[in-house]
Amino acid sequence: NSVIFSMVQPTGRFHLGNYLGSVRVWKDLCDLKRPDCKLIFGVADLHAITIPIPNGQKLRQNRAEATASILSLGIDPSKAIIFNQSQVHQHAELHWLLSTLAPMGLLNRMTQWKSKSNLKYGADEESLGNVKLGLFSYPVLQAADILLYHSTHVPVGDDQAQHLELARTLGQSFNRMFKKEALVLPTTILAPTKRILSLLDPTSKMSKSDSNQNATIYLNEEPDSIVNKVKKAMTDSISHSFYYDPNTRPAVSNLINIVSGIQRTSISEVEKDISHFRSHSDFKKYVSEILVEALREPRENFNMYIKDPHYLEQVSKKGAEAASELAEKNLKQIKDLMGF
Ligand code: TYM
Repeated sequence: NSVIFSMVQPTGRFHLGNYLGSVRVWKDLCDLKRPDCKLIFGVADLHAITIPIPNGQKLRQNRAEATASILSLGIDPSKAIIFNQSQVHQHAELHWLLSTLAPMGLLNRMTQWKSKSNLKYGADEESLGNVKLGLFSYPVLQAADILLYHSTHVPVGDDQAQHLELARTLGQSFNRMFKKEALVLPTTILAPTKRILSLLDPTSKMSKSDSNQNATIYLNEEPDSIVNKVKKAMTDSISHSFYYDPNTRPAVSNLINIVSGIQRTSISEVEKDISHFRSHSDFKKYVSEILVEALREPRENFNMYIKDPHYLEQVSKKGAEAASELAEKNLKQIKDLMGF
């Protein structure tokens, strides 16, 4: 029996990276769903507060947008549990239990808290003084999310691979201490397009929090805006031929990777399609036409769902009830083994 589990943070509108790196895999798995398979997709609102959010209203809005985005990408709430992490209190409780097994040294090696707190490797203790405990322990909460449901498969983008490794390590430690095979060690599922890069800087990933809005294409982006952003996207000085080579042509290769992801074709097929282009503008026109077409339906769906907060709440409430039932049963076993 497989349990496919994943989450996304409600920290802003979804972008192409979230879609191609993760949520489209959720959708594919939903379409293939067999009766013995559970699908559980969550909005990680407890994780979202590790980066300060201006106020509660903003978090509420972000959460509604995240649920609307998940639905707009075709995840069917009758096939998958869709829920908010904060509405299933067992996540926070398991976080505490697992934190007692989580070595500080291992957490210190995680890269995300350093980048989110603008720290470099080897930061001294003084600069650590201001890093919040919740940000440091973020991956332990993520491990709790996953282990809580005995998840067998977790579809995520490349940037989450390290966190998944930690989840397995904590699961193993628990099993060694309390009972062999009590917790399931999850397998990471990476999409072929597991890392979508910023349109303006191919050394960093596309991200919701990029200060330059032109670096990111959002799922509900209007067609003119998509065309504009692709026009401004970084390329390189070679315009008589377009081919994939992430080392020497990272920006062009990122656009090729995006097209290959959207069309579900191989890189070499995309290269064939673009082999006759002799200018950046022809190449970019081709890329933006494909993006505009691919995002049309998600945009229309999003605009429809976001106008119906009542429906969004209903979906999350129903999801939280179903998730709580599974979570409570598993947490009870875990606590029992630990002596509670
Ligand atoms: P988040 O909200 O940053 O991203 C959601 C999903 O999108 C993927 N992703 C990308 N994939 C390819 N290219 C990119 N540029 C890109 N940017 C984001 C992420 O890898 C992720 O799969 N910590 C998680 C949320 C989380 C979670 C979990 C995930 C909380 N608990 C348990 C899985 C299981 C996060 O910050 O994702």
